[in-house]
Amino acid sequence: MSKNTFTIRDNRTGKEYEIPVENGAIRAKDLRQIKVDPAEFGTMTYDPGYDNTAACKSAITYIDGDQGILRYRGYPIEQLAEQSSFLEVAYLLIFGELPNAQQLQDWRYQVMHHTFLHQNMTELFHAFRYDAHPMGMMISALAFMSTLHKEAMQVEDAAVRMKQVYRILGKLPTVAAFCYRHRIGRPFNYPNADMGYAENFIYMLDYMHQSNYIVNPVLARALDVLFILHADHEQNASTSVMRSIGSAHADPYSAMAGAAAALFGPRHGGANEAVIKLLNEIGHVRNVPGYVERVKKGEFRLMGFGHRVYKNYDPRAKIIKKIAYDVFAVTGTNPLIDVAVELERYALEDEYFVARKLYPNVDFYSGIIYQAMRFPPEMFTVLFTLGRAPGWLAQWNEMIGDPDQKIARPRQIYLGAEERDYLPLDQRP
Ligand code: CMC
Repeated sequence: MSKNTFTIRDNRTGKEYEIPVENGAIRAKDLRQIKVDPAEFGTMTYDPGYDNTAACKSAITYIDGDQGILRYRGYPIEQLAEQSSFLEVAYLLIFGELPNAQQLQDWRYQVMHHTFLHQNMTELFHAFRYDAHPMGMMISALAFMSTLHKEAMQVEDAAVRMKQVYRILGKLPTVAAFCYRHRIGRPFNYPNADMGYAENFIYMLDYMHQSNYIVNPVLARALDVLFILHADHEQNASTSVMRSIGSAHADPYSAMAGAAAALFGPRHGGANEAVIKLLNEIGHVRNVPGYVERVKKGEFRLMGFGHRVYKNYDPRAKIIKKIAYDVFAVTGTNPLIDVAVELERYALEDEYFVARKLYPNVDFYSGIIYQAMRFPPEMFTVLFTLGRAPGWLAQWNEMIGDPDQKIARPRQIYLGAEERDYLPLDQRP
């Protein structure tokens, strides 16, 4: 009869160890018993960037990177993008099930009635220079919120946790809109809880006291779908930071400030901004081959391409490419789409990209839509932050309730100097 174990033979000692296999994984700590000398620390695994290490068990998001599959709580992303709304998806991620009509109404009410910011926060925005990057402002605003809601430290209290979830999801679009309005020197618009989530966000960005102002429903829906597509992506860099900071039982605002800081990086959520810079630089379809050759020489990476998990077309990129044309029907086309489509076609036929399984990711087309909607590139990662917020919160909530979880504390392989004596300055070579 087959056993769910590995037998590991240590060729240094000839000893054998039987290690249990559970859910296709072994516990790294089971390797600790493997040692030559009893005084040794024992065997560890070395895995920079957590390429093959499961840091948690999770029931939130499933990805099959080879097949290009993404599901939230079992629901395919394509169905959610087509039929659901961002607030419903946020509920699904956090609570694990789709809401019934009453639950959705209560959830919507709670989130939309936590959209106002403490007045002190408006002073925070004024402290920034007009050209401050909105992600820097967003990260600061999250840290600032932790100073306002002190009970948020009680992370073991589920009701307190839920209160912060309402607050964060409610207030984040207001923060983002205030960042934007501050940069363009326009007065802040206060939230309107009677509007839809994306609709209210667009209203806060745009409204200038015009009579008969309405938010274009096609643009509000497009933004809502983009938020759905970004809502969670299991253990990516920013989510790992959220869990890591959260594992120390910091409040969720501080943890989210850290997660947003990780997202800001151009290899993560900052890629959407970098894609637009690259497409602008390429400028015309005729320049595509020259740029691809430079990527292949290693001069720079093709932003919006490649993914740690997807070794197939990112399913989110497929949906986004389709939404782009809905948005262009309202805004007029973005000439960069032609460059992007040609870049994708050219790269996908090139051996360098084929061999490495590099496909367009979520950031490749999203920036083109945001730009058509007149968002400045610096706002793109802020939009990613709004979308990703429920995922971070769901993962944080799951982590706090998971009895297996401990404070995040990786090991290292120390390769530095042996013990040596301190030399006073005048005796150093
Ligand atoms: N352009 C050119 N070459 C690439 C790219 C790219 N975008 N991405 C990976 N490669 C090459 C890389 O040079 C390496 O080649 P070699 O084996 O010859 O050294 C190989 O592909 C494997 O790359 P890696 O860096 O080991 O892969 P990774 O899983 O560590 O990195 C990634 C994943 C997303 C950081 C990377 O693909 C990348 O830098 N892409 C561009 C930035 C980007 O679009 N990021 C957004 C990711 S999706 C949304 C999000 O997470 O926010």
